Amino acid sequence: MITTIRPWKQDDLDELVLYANNRNVWNNLRNYFPHPYTTESGLAWLEKVVDAPLPAINFAIEVDGTVAGGIGLILNGDVYIKSAEVGYWIGEPFWGKGVATEALRQITEYAYATFDLVRLYAEVFESNKASMRVLEKNGYYLEGVRRKSVFKNEILMDDFIWVKLRGW
Ligand SMILES: CC(C)(COP(=O)(O)OP(=O)(O)OC[C@H]1O[C@@H](n2cnc3c(N)ncnc32)[C@H](O)[C@@H]1OP(=O)(O)O)[C@@H](O)C(=O)NCCC(=O)NCCS
Repeated sequence: MITTIRPWKQDDLDELVLYANNRNVWNNLRNYFPHPYTTESGLAWLEKVVDAPLPAINFAIEVDGTVAGGIGLILNGDVYIKSAEVGYWIGEPFWGKGVATEALRQITEYAYATFDLVRLYAEVFESNKASMRVLEKNGYYLEGVRRKSVFKNEILMDDFIWVKLRGW
């Protein structure tokens, strides 16, 4: 199985909607990720990311030629200019096969090679042990817990901040 990250293409619409339209994916993401994830949602996403200015910050995750998810960076501004958040999702049929681990490895390497960053981080809901394991496997460490900072599905949760500093 070969996992790669690559820029989004207009052709990705059907696979994007097929895998993104899943409550089990959405449950672990912020509410700006649409649910239900319609064709219009997919078109709006592709409108934003296809042919976006370089260097790219959003990528499709491709597994053996199929779009299996997405991964991206949010570059911070102001005094946080040296930090970026990383976020990702994998279509449910591809879970448990090491896809997120490999995609995170690739974007971490890309981020430090491409941008003048010193800090990459992810913010993970407390229930999402699989994502925390993906970060741990990539050398990210648990920096802290923001108690009761997330309100999702009518449930108040902690979120866990995982960090990988440049060169560590
Ligand atoms: C979380 C998610 C990204 C994981 O993707 P994935 O491709 O299945 O992850 P991988 O296969 O690379 O690794 C998963 C690891 O978590 C482990 N794991 C899975 N469920 C677990 C659980 N309930 N408790 C502890 N570890 C768990 C797996 O065993 C594996 O670790 P291992 O290699 O040591 O065995 C994927 O489930 C997903 O996209 N979920 C919805 C969106 C999301 O959560 N995005 C991240 C937001 S921070």
